Amino acid sequence: MAKRTIITMPGDGIGKVVLPESLRVLDAVGFEADFVHGDIGWDFWINEGNALPQRTIDLLAKHKLGLFGAITSKPNKEATAELKPELRGKGFTYFSPIVGMRQKFNLDICLRPCRSFPGNPLNFVRRLTNGDIEEPRVDAVIFRQNTEGMYAGVEWTDPPPDVMKALKSHPKFKPFAEVPGKDLAVSTRIVTRPAARRIFEAAFRYARKHGYKGVTVCEKPNVLRETSGMMEDMGKQVQKEFSDIKLWSTNIDAQMMWLTKNPEDYGVLVAENLFGDIVSDGFAGLVGGLGFAASGNIGDDVAVFEPTHGSAPKYAELDPPIINPIAMILSAAMLLDHIGETAKAKKIWDAVAAVVKAGKVRTYDMMRLTGGPNVIKQGAATTGQITDAVIAELR
Ligand code: NAI
Ligand code: MG
Repeated sequence: MAKRTIITMPGDGIGKVVLPESLRVLDAVGFEADFVHGDIGWDFWINEGNALPQRTIDLLAKHKLGLFGAITSKPNKEATAELKPELRGKGFTYFSPIVGMRQKFNLDICLRPCRSFPGNPLNFVRRLTNGDIEEPRVDAVIFRQNTEGMYAGVEWTDPPPDVMKALKSHPKFKPFAEVPGKDLAVSTRIVTRPAARRIFEAAFRYARKHGYKGVTVCEKPNVLRETSGMMEDMGKQVQKEFSDIKLWSTNIDAQMMWLTKNPEDYGVLVAENLFGDIVSDGFAGLVGGLGFAASGNIGDDVAVFEPTHGSAPKYAELDPPIINPIAMILSAAMLLDHIGETAKAKKIWDAVAAVVKAGKVRTYDMMRLTGGPNVIKQGAATTGQITDAVIAELR
Protein backbone atom coordinates (compact mmCIF):
# COMPACT_ATOMS: atom_id res chain seq x y z
CA MET A 1 0.00 0.00 0.00
CA ALA A 2 1.24 3.47 -0.82
CA LYS A 3 2.58 5.40 2.13
CA ARG A 4 -0.10 7.65 3.58
CA THR A 5 0.22 11.28 4.55
CA ILE A 6 -1.46 12.24 7.79
CA ILE A 7 -2.08 15.87 8.66
CA THR A 8 -1.28 16.39 12.34
CA MET A 9 -3.04 19.34 13.95
CA PRO A 10 -2.05 19.65 17.62
CA GLY A 11 -3.95 22.92 18.10
CA ASP A 12 -3.84 24.54 21.52
CA GLY A 13 -3.15 23.75 25.16
CA ILE A 14 -2.96 20.05 25.95
CA GLY A 15 -3.62 19.28 22.27
CA LYS A 16 0.06 20.16 21.82
CA VAL A 17 0.94 17.69 24.59
CA VAL A 18 -1.15 14.66 23.62
CA LEU A 19 -0.82 14.69 19.85
CA PRO A 20 2.94 13.97 19.82
CA GLU A 21 2.31 11.16 22.34
CA SER A 22 -0.04 9.47 19.88
CA LEU A 23 2.61 9.75 17.16
CA ARG A 24 5.09 7.92 19.38
CA VAL A 25 2.56 5.10 19.72
CA LEU A 26 1.88 4.97 15.96
CA ASP A 27 5.61 4.71 15.41
CA ALA A 28 5.96 1.95 18.00
CA VAL A 29 3.20 -0.12 16.40
CA GLY A 30 5.09 0.04 13.11
CA PHE A 31 2.75 2.33 11.22
CA GLU A 32 4.71 4.15 8.57
CA ALA A 33 3.33 7.38 7.18
CA ASP A 34 4.39 10.89 6.38
CA PHE A 35 3.17 13.19 9.12
CA VAL A 36 2.68 16.76 7.97
CA HIS A 37 1.95 19.52 10.45
CA GLY A 38 -1.24 21.54 9.95
CA ASP A 39 -1.69 24.98 11.52
CA ILE A 40 -4.88 25.32 13.53
CA GLY A 41 -6.07 27.12 16.65
CA TRP A 42 -5.85 30.26 18.69
CA ASP A 43 -2.43 31.56 17.56
CA PHE A 44 -3.70 31.63 13.97
CA TRP A 45 -6.82 33.45 15.02
CA ILE A 46 -4.75 36.11 16.81
CA ASN A 47 -2.20 36.57 14.05
CA GLU A 48 -4.21 35.88 10.91
CA GLY A 49 -7.84 36.27 11.93
CA ASN A 50 -8.48 32.64 11.00
CA ALA A 51 -8.17 29.67 13.36
CA LEU A 52 -8.41 27.28 10.41
CA PRO A 53 -6.11 28.71 7.73
CA GLN A 54 -6.79 27.85 4.09
CA ARG A 55 -3.39 26.10 3.85
CA THR A 56 -4.57 23.56 6.44
CA ILE A 57 -7.84 23.02 4.58
CA ASP A 58 -5.80 22.45 1.40
CA LEU A 59 -3.60 19.88 3.15
CA LEU A 60 -6.64 17.98 4.41
CA ALA A 61 -8.33 18.17 1.01
CA LYS A 62 -5.23 16.69 -0.57
CA HIS A 63 -4.33 13.99 1.93
CA LYS A 64 -7.78 13.16 3.39
CA LEU A 65 -6.65 12.10 6.86
CA GLY A 66 -6.17 14.18 9.96
CA LEU A 67 -5.23 13.75 13.57
CA PHE A 68 -6.35 16.63 15.71
CA GLY A 69 -5.55 17.53 19.32
CA ALA A 70 -7.79 20.24 20.74
CA ILE A 71 -8.43 23.93 20.29
CA THR A 72 -9.27 26.80 22.57
CA SER A 73 -12.48 28.65 21.77
CA LYS A 74 -13.67 31.85 23.37
CA PRO A 75 -16.85 33.94 23.05
CA ASN A 76 -16.85 36.40 20.16
CA LYS A 77 -16.18 39.52 22.22
CA GLU A 78 -13.13 38.05 23.96
CA ALA A 79 -11.89 36.58 20.70
CA THR A 80 -12.06 39.94 18.93
CA ALA A 81 -10.24 41.65 21.82
CA GLU A 82 -7.33 39.23 21.44
CA LEU A 83 -6.85 39.79 17.71
CA LYS A 84 -3.56 41.52 16.97
CA PRO A 85 -4.13 45.29 16.69
CA GLU A 86 -3.68 45.48 12.88
CA LEU A 87 -6.53 43.02 12.38
CA ARG A 88 -9.08 44.60 14.70
CA GLY A 89 -12.13 46.24 13.18
CA LYS A 90 -11.55 44.51 9.85
CA GLY A 91 -14.59 42.28 10.09
CA PHE A 92 -12.92 39.09 11.33
CA THR A 93 -15.28 36.87 13.30
CA TYR A 94 -14.15 33.85 15.25
CA PHE A 95 -15.51 30.46 14.33
CA SER A 96 -14.55 27.13 15.84
CA PRO A 97 -12.08 25.40 13.51
CA ILE A 98 -13.39 21.94 14.37
CA VAL A 99 -16.91 22.97 13.42
CA GLY A 100 -15.40 24.60 10.32
CA MET A 101 -13.67 21.34 9.37
CA ARG A 102 -16.86 19.34 9.87
CA GLN A 103 -18.79 21.70 7.60
CA LYS A 104 -16.09 22.17 4.97
CA PHE A 105 -15.57 18.45 4.40
CA ASN A 106 -19.03 17.28 5.39
CA LEU A 107 -17.63 15.15 8.21
CA ASP A 108 -21.17 14.12 9.00
CA ILE A 109 -20.53 10.97 10.96
CA CYS A 110 -19.17 11.32 14.46
CA LEU A 111 -18.09 7.97 15.82
CA ARG A 112 -17.54 7.68 19.55
CA PRO A 113 -16.69 4.29 21.02
CA CYS A 114 -17.18 4.07 24.80
CA ARG A 115 -15.64 0.80 25.97
CA SER A 116 -14.65 0.06 29.52
CA PHE A 117 -11.14 -1.23 30.16
CA PRO A 118 -11.17 -3.83 32.94
CA GLY A 119 -9.26 -2.54 35.93
CA ASN A 120 -10.02 1.12 35.31
CA PRO A 121 -10.99 2.52 38.72
CA LEU A 122 -13.22 5.04 36.93
CA ASN A 123 -15.49 2.37 35.45
CA PHE A 124 -19.21 2.23 36.20
CA VAL A 125 -20.06 -0.23 38.99
CA ARG A 126 -23.37 -1.26 40.55
CA ARG A 127 -24.26 -2.56 43.99
CA LEU A 128 -26.21 -5.81 44.01
CA THR A 129 -29.01 -6.54 46.49
CA ASN A 130 -26.65 -8.74 48.54
CA GLY A 131 -24.22 -5.82 48.85
CA ASP A 132 -21.69 -7.14 46.35
CA ILE A 133 -20.30 -4.80 43.73
CA GLU A 134 -20.60 -5.72 40.09
CA GLU A 135 -18.75 -4.11 37.19
CA PRO A 136 -20.55 -4.77 33.91
CA ARG A 137 -18.55 -4.42 30.72
CA VAL A 138 -19.59 -1.33 28.79
CA ASP A 139 -19.19 -1.52 25.03
CA ALA A 140 -21.23 1.23 23.44
CA VAL A 141 -20.45 2.87 20.12
CA ILE A 142 -22.30 6.07 19.40
CA PHE A 143 -22.94 7.35 15.89
CA ARG A 144 -23.76 11.02 16.23
CA GLN A 145 -24.99 12.95 13.22
CA ASN A 146 -22.38 15.68 13.09
CA THR A 147 -23.52 18.39 10.70
CA GLU A 148 -27.22 19.15 11.15
CA GLY A 149 -29.96 18.65 13.74
CA MET A 150 -30.14 21.09 16.62
CA TYR A 151 -26.57 22.26 15.93
CA ALA A 152 -27.25 23.27 12.33
CA GLY A 153 -26.85 26.86 13.53
CA VAL A 154 -30.05 28.16 11.97
CA GLU A 155 -31.27 30.33 14.81
CA TRP A 156 -32.37 33.82 15.71
CA THR A 157 -33.08 36.13 18.57
CA ASP A 158 -35.60 38.62 17.18
CA PRO A 159 -36.31 36.67 14.00
CA PRO A 160 -36.66 38.71 10.76
CA PRO A 161 -40.20 39.43 9.48
CA ASP A 162 -40.30 36.66 6.87
CA VAL A 163 -39.30 34.09 9.49
CA MET A 164 -41.91 35.49 11.91
CA LYS A 165 -44.50 35.22 9.17
CA ALA A 166 -43.64 31.59 8.55
CA LEU A 167 -43.69 30.82 12.28
CA LYS A 168 -47.06 32.51 12.68
CA SER A 169 -48.48 30.25 9.99
CA HIS A 170 -47.98 27.28 12.34
CA PRO A 171 -50.91 26.66 14.71
CA LYS A 172 -48.59 25.69 17.58
CA PHE A 173 -46.95 29.11 17.40
CA LYS A 174 -50.10 30.84 18.62
CA PRO A 175 -49.00 31.17 22.29
CA PHE A 176 -45.80 32.93 21.15
CA ALA A 177 -47.21 35.12 18.40
CA GLU A 178 -47.43 38.28 20.50
CA VAL A 179 -44.00 37.96 22.18
CA PRO A 180 -41.81 40.95 21.22
CA GLY A 181 -39.04 39.90 18.82
CA LYS A 182 -36.21 40.87 21.17
CA ASP A 183 -37.70 38.53 23.78
CA LEU A 184 -37.97 35.62 21.37
CA ALA A 185 -35.18 33.17 20.54
CA VAL A 186 -35.65 30.36 18.03
CA SER A 187 -33.31 27.49 17.13
CA THR A 188 -34.29 25.13 14.36
CA ARG A 189 -33.66 21.39 14.38
CA ILE A 190 -32.93 20.31 10.83
CA VAL A 191 -32.89 16.70 9.68
CA THR A 192 -32.44 15.72 6.06
CA ARG A 193 -33.20 12.31 4.64
CA PRO A 194 -29.85 11.80 2.90
CA ALA A 195 -27.84 12.63 6.03
CA ALA A 196 -30.10 10.49 8.21
CA ARG A 197 -29.64 7.64 5.76
CA ARG A 198 -25.85 8.03 5.87
CA ILE A 199 -25.60 7.91 9.65
CA PHE A 200 -27.77 4.78 9.80
CA GLU A 201 -25.89 3.09 6.98
CA ALA A 202 -22.61 3.79 8.77
CA ALA A 203 -24.01 2.43 12.05
CA PHE A 204 -25.45 -0.73 10.50
CA ARG A 205 -22.25 -1.41 8.55
CA TYR A 206 -20.26 -0.99 11.75
CA ALA A 207 -22.63 -3.26 13.70
CA ARG A 208 -22.29 -5.98 11.08
CA LYS A 209 -18.51 -5.67 10.81
CA HIS A 210 -18.00 -5.79 14.57
CA GLY A 211 -20.63 -8.38 15.44
CA TYR A 212 -23.22 -6.25 17.23
CA LYS A 213 -26.74 -7.67 17.17
CA GLY A 214 -28.60 -4.41 16.80
CA VAL A 215 -28.62 -0.66 16.39
CA THR A 216 -30.51 1.54 18.85
CA VAL A 217 -31.91 4.84 17.68
CA CYS A 218 -32.17 7.43 20.51
CA GLU A 219 -34.67 10.10 19.55
CA LYS A 220 -37.97 11.50 20.80
CA PRO A 221 -40.46 10.83 18.00
CA ASN A 222 -43.54 11.16 20.18
CA VAL A 223 -42.70 14.86 20.74
CA LEU A 224 -40.34 15.83 17.92
CA ARG A 225 -42.65 14.23 15.39
CA GLU A 226 -41.05 15.64 12.29
CA THR A 227 -37.30 15.50 12.93
CA SER A 228 -37.11 12.49 15.25
CA GLY A 229 -39.84 10.96 13.12
CA MET A 230 -37.66 11.22 10.04
CA MET A 231 -34.68 9.77 11.90
CA GLU A 232 -36.72 6.76 13.02
CA ASP A 233 -38.20 6.36 9.58
CA MET A 234 -34.76 6.26 7.95
CA GLY A 235 -33.57 3.82 10.58
CA LYS A 236 -36.38 1.47 9.59
CA GLN A 237 -35.65 1.88 5.90
CA VAL A 238 -31.94 1.20 6.26
CA GLN A 239 -32.59 -1.78 8.55
CA LYS A 240 -34.34 -3.50 5.62
CA GLU A 241 -30.95 -3.65 3.90
CA PHE A 242 -29.38 -5.22 7.00
CA SER A 243 -31.83 -7.96 7.90
CA ASP A 244 -29.24 -9.67 10.15
CA ILE A 245 -29.12 -6.60 12.44
CA LYS A 246 -32.08 -5.50 14.56
CA LEU A 247 -33.29 -1.93 15.03
CA TRP A 248 -34.30 -0.88 18.51
CA SER A 249 -35.70 2.47 19.50
CA THR A 250 -35.50 4.38 22.78
CA ASN A 251 -36.45 7.89 23.79
CA ILE A 252 -33.41 10.00 24.56
CA ASP A 253 -34.55 10.84 28.10
CA ALA A 254 -35.31 7.24 28.97
CA GLN A 255 -32.03 6.25 27.33
CA MET A 256 -30.10 8.51 29.70
CA MET A 257 -31.78 6.77 32.62
CA TRP A 258 -31.23 3.26 31.25
CA LEU A 259 -27.58 3.84 30.42
CA THR A 260 -26.88 4.78 34.01
CA LYS A 261 -28.66 1.64 35.21
CA ASN A 262 -27.79 -1.01 32.63
CA PRO A 263 -25.10 0.34 30.31
CA GLU A 264 -24.08 -3.17 29.27
CA ASP A 265 -27.39 -3.53 27.39
CA TYR A 266 -26.31 -1.15 24.65
CA GLY A 267 -24.07 -1.57 21.61
CA VAL A 268 -24.34 0.62 18.54
CA LEU A 269 -26.45 3.75 19.01
CA VAL A 270 -27.54 6.43 16.55
CA ALA A 271 -28.74 9.94 17.34
CA GLU A 272 -29.05 13.41 15.90
CA ASN A 273 -26.33 15.96 16.67
CA LEU A 274 -27.51 17.32 20.06
CA PHE A 275 -28.89 14.03 21.34
CA GLY A 276 -25.75 12.27 20.11
CA ASP A 277 -23.57 14.79 21.91
CA ILE A 278 -25.48 14.15 25.14
CA VAL A 279 -25.72 10.38 24.95
CA SER A 280 -22.05 9.99 23.99
CA ASP A 281 -20.90 12.13 26.94
CA GLY A 282 -23.20 10.04 29.12
CA PHE A 283 -21.58 6.80 28.05
CA ALA A 284 -18.09 8.32 28.19
CA GLY A 285 -18.66 9.10 31.85
CA LEU A 286 -19.21 5.40 32.55
CA VAL A 287 -15.88 4.34 31.08
CA GLY A 288 -13.46 6.89 32.51
CA GLY A 289 -14.51 10.26 31.15
CA LEU A 290 -12.52 12.71 29.08
CA GLY A 291 -9.17 10.96 29.45
CA PHE A 292 -10.63 7.94 27.62
CA ALA A 293 -13.07 9.47 25.14
CA ALA A 294 -11.83 9.10 21.56
CA SER A 295 -13.69 10.07 18.42
CA GLY A 296 -13.67 10.22 14.65
CA ASN A 297 -15.29 12.80 12.38
CA ILE A 298 -15.85 10.90 9.19
CA GLY A 299 -16.97 12.12 5.78
CA ASP A 300 -17.04 10.41 2.40
CA ASP A 301 -13.68 11.79 1.47
CA VAL A 302 -11.93 13.16 4.56
CA ALA A 303 -11.73 11.88 8.14
CA VAL A 304 -10.32 13.58 11.22
CA PHE A 305 -9.74 11.78 14.52
CA GLU A 306 -9.59 13.58 17.87
CA PRO A 307 -10.02 13.11 21.59
CA THR A 308 -13.29 14.66 22.70
CA HIS A 309 -11.66 16.70 25.45
CA GLY A 310 -10.69 20.32 24.93
CA SER A 311 -7.42 22.20 25.40
CA ALA A 312 -7.62 22.20 29.25
CA PRO A 313 -5.63 25.47 29.46
CA LYS A 314 -4.99 25.21 33.20
CA TYR A 315 -2.89 22.07 32.64
CA ALA A 316 -1.29 23.07 29.37
CA GLU A 317 1.86 24.60 30.85
CA LEU A 318 2.61 22.00 33.54
CA ASP A 319 6.05 20.48 33.25
CA PRO A 320 6.07 17.52 33.30
CA PRO A 321 2.61 17.26 31.76
CA ILE A 322 0.08 15.30 33.82
CA ILE A 323 -2.94 14.87 31.56
CA ASN A 324 -4.09 11.51 30.27
CA PRO A 325 -2.99 10.81 26.67
CA ILE A 326 -5.18 7.69 26.28
CA ALA A 327 -8.10 9.47 24.52
CA MET A 328 -5.65 10.82 21.93
CA ILE A 329 -3.87 7.46 21.59
CA LEU A 330 -7.19 5.67 21.03
CA SER A 331 -8.18 8.32 18.48
CA ALA A 332 -5.00 7.46 16.55
CA ALA A 333 -5.98 3.78 16.78
CA MET A 334 -9.38 4.68 15.32
CA LEU A 335 -7.61 6.33 12.40
CA LEU A 336 -5.75 3.07 11.77
CA ASP A 337 -9.00 1.11 11.91
CA HIS A 338 -10.57 3.56 9.47
CA ILE A 339 -7.86 2.99 6.84
CA GLY A 340 -7.96 -0.78 7.21
CA GLU A 341 -4.95 -1.17 9.50
CA THR A 342 -7.18 -3.18 11.78
CA ALA A 343 -4.50 -5.39 13.31
CA LYS A 344 -2.35 -2.42 14.33
CA ALA A 345 -5.40 -0.63 15.71
CA LYS A 346 -6.25 -3.66 17.81
CA LYS A 347 -2.67 -3.89 19.08
CA ILE A 348 -2.87 -0.33 20.38
CA TRP A 349 -6.26 -0.97 21.94
CA ASP A 350 -4.91 -4.13 23.62
CA ALA A 351 -1.77 -2.34 24.82
CA VAL A 352 -3.85 0.39 26.46
CA ALA A 353 -6.04 -2.30 28.02
CA ALA A 354 -2.96 -4.06 29.45
CA VAL A 355 -1.61 -0.82 30.94
CA VAL A 356 -4.96 0.02 32.52
CA LYS A 357 -5.37 -3.50 33.87
CA ALA A 358 -1.87 -3.62 35.37
CA GLY A 359 -2.66 -0.34 37.13
CA LYS A 360 1.00 0.47 37.81
CA VAL A 361 0.98 3.76 35.95
CA ARG A 362 -2.05 5.97 36.27
CA THR A 363 -2.58 9.61 35.47
CA TYR A 364 -4.18 11.82 38.12
CA ASP A 365 -7.67 11.48 36.64
CA MET A 366 -7.50 7.68 37.04
CA MET A 367 -6.57 8.20 40.70
CA ARG A 368 -9.42 10.65 41.26
CA LEU A 369 -6.94 13.35 42.30
CA THR A 370 -7.47 17.05 41.81
CA GLY A 371 -5.24 18.10 38.94
CA GLY A 372 -2.15 20.23 39.51
CA PRO A 373 1.63 20.03 39.89
CA ASN A 374 1.35 18.08 43.16
CA VAL A 375 -0.21 14.98 41.65
CA ILE A 376 3.19 13.55 40.75
CA LYS A 377 4.16 13.60 44.44
CA GLN A 378 0.88 11.84 45.16
CA GLY A 379 1.90 8.95 42.91
CA ALA A 380 0.33 9.95 39.61
CA ALA A 381 2.17 9.16 36.40
CA THR A 382 3.16 11.83 33.91
CA THR A 383 1.63 11.92 30.44
CA GLY A 384 4.87 10.56 28.99
CA GLN A 385 5.01 7.65 31.44
CA ILE A 386 1.58 6.41 30.32
CA THR A 387 2.67 6.56 26.70
CA ASP A 388 5.92 4.78 27.57
CA ALA A 389 3.94 2.02 29.27
CA VAL A 390 1.69 1.59 26.22
CA ILE A 391 4.76 1.47 23.97
CA ALA A 392 6.42 -1.10 26.24
CA GLU A 393 3.32 -3.32 25.79
CA LEU A 394 3.62 -2.97 22.02
CA ARG A 395 7.23 -4.13 21.96
P1 NAI B 1 -11.58 20.51 28.62
O1 NAI B 1 -11.99 19.21 28.02
O2 NAI B 1 -10.46 21.21 27.97
O3 NAI B 1 -11.19 20.29 30.13
C1 NAI B 1 -12.10 20.10 31.18
C2 NAI B 1 -11.41 19.39 32.33
O4 NAI B 1 -11.41 17.99 32.07
C3 NAI B 1 -9.96 19.75 32.51
O5 NAI B 1 -9.80 20.87 33.28
C4 NAI B 1 -9.43 18.50 33.18
O6 NAI B 1 -9.77 18.52 34.54
C5 NAI B 1 -10.21 17.41 32.50
N1 NAI B 1 -9.51 16.83 31.33
C6 NAI B 1 -9.69 17.11 30.03
N2 NAI B 1 -8.90 16.37 29.26
C7 NAI B 1 -8.20 15.59 30.10
C8 NAI B 1 -7.19 14.59 29.91
N3 NAI B 1 -6.75 14.24 28.69
N4 NAI B 1 -6.67 14.01 31.00
C9 NAI B 1 -7.07 14.33 32.23
N5 NAI B 1 -8.00 15.26 32.48
C10 NAI B 1 -8.56 15.88 31.43
O7 NAI B 1 -12.90 21.45 28.63
P2 NAI B 1 -13.06 22.98 29.06
O8 NAI B 1 -12.19 23.30 30.23
O9 NAI B 1 -14.50 23.19 29.14
O10 NAI B 1 -12.56 23.82 27.80
C11 NAI B 1 -11.24 24.31 27.65
C12 NAI B 1 -11.08 24.84 26.23
O11 NAI B 1 -11.18 23.76 25.31
C13 NAI B 1 -12.16 25.85 25.84
O12 NAI B 1 -11.55 26.88 25.12
C14 NAI B 1 -13.10 25.05 24.97
O13 NAI B 1 -13.73 25.84 24.02
C15 NAI B 1 -12.15 24.07 24.31
N6 NAI B 1 -12.76 22.81 23.84
C16 NAI B 1 -12.30 22.29 22.67
C17 NAI B 1 -12.75 21.08 22.20
C18 NAI B 1 -12.14 20.53 20.96
O14 NAI B 1 -11.07 20.95 20.58
N7 NAI B 1 -12.74 19.58 20.30
C19 NAI B 1 -13.77 20.31 22.92
C20 NAI B 1 -14.15 20.90 24.18
C21 NAI B 1 -13.67 22.10 24.60
MG1 MG C 1 -19.56 17.37 23.90
